[in-house]
Amino acid sequence: MGLIIAANWKMHKTAAETVSFCNRLLPQEKYFQGIEVLICPPFTALAAAAAALEGSSIKLGAQNMSWEEEGAYTGEIAPQMLKEFRVSHVILGHSERRHIFGEDDATIRKKFQRALYDELVPILCIGETEDQRNRGETEAVLERQLRAVLEGLEPGSIKELVVAYEPVWAIGTGRAASPSDAAAAASLVRAVVEKIFSSETGPTLRVQYGGSVNANNIGSFVALSPVNGALVGGASLEVDSFAALITAAKEAAGC
Ligand code: PGA
Repeated sequence: MGLIIAANWKMHKTAAETVSFCNRLLPQEKYFQGIEVLICPPFTALAAAAAALEGSSIKLGAQNMSWEEEGAYTGEIAPQMLKEFRVSHVILGHSERRHIFGEDDATIRKKFQRALYDELVPILCIGETEDQRNRGETEAVLERQLRAVLEGLEPGSIKELVVAYEPVWAIGTGRAASPSDAAAAASLVRAVVEKIFSSETGPTLRVQYGGSVNANNIGSFVALSPVNGALVGGASLEVDSFAALITAAKEAAGC
């Protein structure tokens, strides 16, 4: 199964900085063959990124979106507005959205359904907090988060689902999960998704690991087959570290 490596820039980079990043990344693109590479800039840099990346295989994702099509929703961004800038993916349920901005499972489910309706590939983020992990609740939390969003949906609608397992305690802390814990979580995700839908959904599902991934540790995650890529924050902000991370992943996964 092909790897998907996504850069989650969070609230970093202006449009001008985005263009400069893309122009420096493009000469490296020839080394990325066999890996799906995705950049998720802030909304305000999407147009600049789309123009800079035109004709390249590097894809664009959004970090969030509204569950509504259009209307009186001050400050919100609709899926069709994203698609105007060749956005193909959208990150949903990131732990910062859940914990800082109060998004709950019901909100994430509405956004998820809207993404499917508008043919954007959702990258559904799930993950336990440190307290939940210490209480031994990791598996239960992951299963609950998946069921809350996926249960009751048409199996046929989940053609290209990506799930990002991101333990909250590992995000931006420099303390990544162990590769074996990430692989165990990825296997659990696969098992739960297959339970909800059918074993036919399994082969198209891709599970990323996220949380303090960098060029030095990516290899140990993707070398384990349940993990199909990474969602990368800090290490995606510099061209050199991001390109090094992609080539290290490629080498480790042998693709
Ligand atoms: P990090 O962020 O790589 O900086 O830990 C990952 C994420 O939040 O997606």
